[in-house]
Amino acid sequence: MKNNPLPRLDEDPVLREQLLPHCRLSLGEVWQDPAGRHRVACADATNESQVRSLICNDHASLAIQDPPYNLIAFDLRNIDSFIEWCADWVRVSAQVMSPDAAFYVWLGADQNQHFQPLPQFMMLMQQLNLFESRSFISMRNQRGYGTQKNWMAVRQELLYYVRGNPFFEVQYTDIPKILRGYYKNINGRKTENLERGRSENIRPGNVWVDVQQVFYRMEENVSGCYAQKPLKSIERILLASSQPEDYVLDLFAHSGSTLLACERLQRRCLTSDLDPIYCEIAIRRLEHYRETGKTGWQNGHPFEDVLGGDTEHLPNN
Ligand SMILES: C[S@@+](CC[C@H](N)C(=O)[O-])C[C@H]1O[C@@H](n2cnc3c(N)ncnc32)[C@H](O)[C@@H]1O
Repeated sequence: MKNNPLPRLDEDPVLREQLLPHCRLSLGEVWQDPAGRHRVACADATNESQVRSLICNDHASLAIQDPPYNLIAFDLRNIDSFIEWCADWVRVSAQVMSPDAAFYVWLGADQNQHFQPLPQFMMLMQQLNLFESRSFISMRNQRGYGTQKNWMAVRQELLYYVRGNPFFEVQYTDIPKILRGYYKNINGRKTENLERGRSENIRPGNVWVDVQQVFYRMEENVSGCYAQKPLKSIERILLASSQPEDYVLDLFAHSGSTLLACERLQRRCLTSDLDPIYCEIAIRRLEHYRETGKTGWQNGHPFEDVLGGDTEHLPNN
């Protein structure tokens, strides 16, 4: 069997036709978790009534949003219409969230096009005035894009906004402090890091270098997805900005990383995707985790019951 058996499912019309009859949701429908913890909707993030049917009477105190910046921003829409589109889902999110809320947004910055859409999105958030800025986090990727004549782009941007006074708890990395520490003179005596702080590990700050990008050899890999965020990054956000049983909103579910991270950390997830295939993948990933304890399909894929395990015969493989 191939290691990465499914191509990008959003771009493969033949496979889509095969898979769509096996998807439980179509646009406007909501999946209720039989365990009563989460909901998944097939919804347009900019459609308030569709998002409201996902939320019901619950209020999320944390949102982790990962809009499709590459695809939609750069190929299908120009930057102005991308930003107008962002204004719509940011407003919808603000409508359905708690008064005290944390709002995280993953974004790209195209270094060949004046770093769009990052600066435009930052300006938009200032104009909308719905959330206040708190931090600009950069996460380091292991792979990147670049040429011999430029710095390789290995960064993903994560913006952190708040309104009111949401929960926040300082996080530590798994990097031991002693490896990354520095000495400091206190009262003429050279002291070590370990003497000064309570934790053995360092605080990640707003540059995260200790998160492995998802690739096909990892258990959490979900083939057929093209933009999967590492569970470790989502779990860090959940631990910092939510508490057990809190509701967490993610309007761009895709591989269901936020859903799965919520399950693992006893949060409740309200998540949606416009594409019924990605809604189905998110639901299947949660079910697969509950059945097997596995976070993804390292040597397989979410639709083995439909397509079989060996997919070398499929188009694009
Ligand atoms: C960048 S991916 C999200 C990745 C996700 N954080 C993960 O870790 O798997 C963006 C997703 O947004 C979905 N999408 C695109 N337009 C949408 C819209 N208007 N409303 C809701 N979802 C949309 C796409 O189908 C895609 O699955």
